Amino acid sequence: NHNTNNPRGALIVLEGLDRCGKTSQSSRLFSYLEGLGHSVESCRFPDRTTSVGQMISSYLSNESQLDDHTIHLLFSANRWEKRSLMEAKLRSGTTLIVDRYSYSGVAFSSAKGLDIEWCKAPEIGLLAPDLVVYLDITPEKAAERGGYGAERYEKLEFQKKVAQSYYSLHDASWKIIDATLPIEDIEKQLQEVALDCVKKCQKGKSISLLWP
Ligand code: TMP
Repeated sequence: NHNTNNPRGALIVLEGLDRCGKTSQSSRLFSYLEGLGHSVESCRFPDRTTSVGQMISSYLSNESQLDDHTIHLLFSANRWEKRSLMEAKLRSGTTLIVDRYSYSGVAFSSAKGLDIEWCKAPEIGLLAPDLVVYLDITPEKAAERGGYGAERYEKLEFQKKVAQSYYSLHDASWKIIDATLPIEDIEKQLQEVALDCVKKCQKGKSISLLWP
């Protein structure tokens, strides 16, 4: 058991469809928390810098083909390879803002037709987020935002299925923010829920594991 006098950081996860605005909101939240004097870092999944991440990246850009189960397990492995580092950072007091996590893993793979329980299984034992924020946008609206890039999943029909998967995956603990609001309004809502979460973790909320 670790020394609890040292307040721990919070694990904050942002989720949503492609082009929902997660990436720019996570950098705004980073600046906000840092500006308040918190120790904070941001990261994203997939982390394309590792060798597993490079396999994922080449799959996403259609340079390689993989069985649906195989790519699912690679996405999960990519989180497992960061798990101990993430735990160490949280325990040392650093708050982590994470752009996509296990929910993306389950939502995208189950949208292909894989069994949801099978998809959830390899995530068991990863760190559970202290806060999941879902930036809510319809697939149609997301597609209007300058269109999708060339990556494998950036297609309207597929994003519709992902939206349904996210919907069946979410629970009452998720903070759902309307991603079509003005950027500053989203930013403010995010700041509120994130700060509240950081404070709870500082006050001793314990780290839990997936799936709580
Ligand atoms: P990115 O655009 O946020 O880098 O994510 C790349 C794509 O990978 C995105 O379409 C979501 C998808 N994805 C999965 O299918 N499974 C996962 O576990 C993660 C983290 C992302």
